[in-house]
Amino acid sequence: MGPAAGIEIRKVENEDAEWRRGFDAFYAGRPVKELGRLPHAYFAAYAGDELAGHSVIYRARGRWVMDGLLVKPEFRERGIAKRLTEARIRYAVENGAKEVWYACDDGNLVTICCHLRFGFEKVCPGGRRCTAATAHWYRLKVTPAVRRGARK
Ligand SMILES: CC(C)(COP(=O)(O)OP(=O)(O)OC[C@H]1O[C@@H](n2cnc3c(N)ncnc32)[C@H](O)[C@@H]1OP(=O)(O)O)[C@@H](O)C(=O)NCCC(=O)NCCS
Repeated sequence: MGPAAGIEIRKVENEDAEWRRGFDAFYAGRPVKELGRLPHAYFAAYAGDELAGHSVIYRARGRWVMDGLLVKPEFRERGIAKRLTEARIRYAVENGAKEVWYACDDGNLVTICCHLRFGFEKVCPGGRRCTAATAHWYRLKVTPAVRRGARK
């Protein structure tokens, strides 16, 4: 199959019981951040009715943060994570984000390489103390070039 052929990326408009059942099954056994009342948007990748990938972007203490990126093993390496990340960056930019953040272990090279291409840089968030080994945060500054890219 071609890269992500037939895969549709959609913002989750209805966080209803049916979606929640799919969500729980999809992330079974993995830690999931409960967002409570934090402003957020889930983005899902569907192959027909099947959930192939899922992710979220939320806003906490004024900071837009991407989280929960997961693609089913049989759908990996077809550009789905990239498209979910593009969609989340676009959403944040459209909603006025000046920066987009995510946290990731140093060992997760796939995610890091999948996100660095967007222009993320490793930083220690203000107010925290980090060493090179403990800083796991990456920041994308929303520049005019990022804004142009998000409009494509
Ligand atoms: C990380 C993950 C989301 C990537 O999903 P994916 O849909 O396979 O990623 P994509 O196909 O969009 O690939 C994005 C980039 O990573 C690269 N990549 C993906 N899988 C790779 C692998 N196994 N080895 C090397 N590079 C890889 C791709 O080549 C692509 O780079 P490019 O844009 O330079 O071509 C997926 O592997 C996953 O769900 N892993 C387990 C959960 C996880 O680690 N989540 C992130 C938590 S921070």
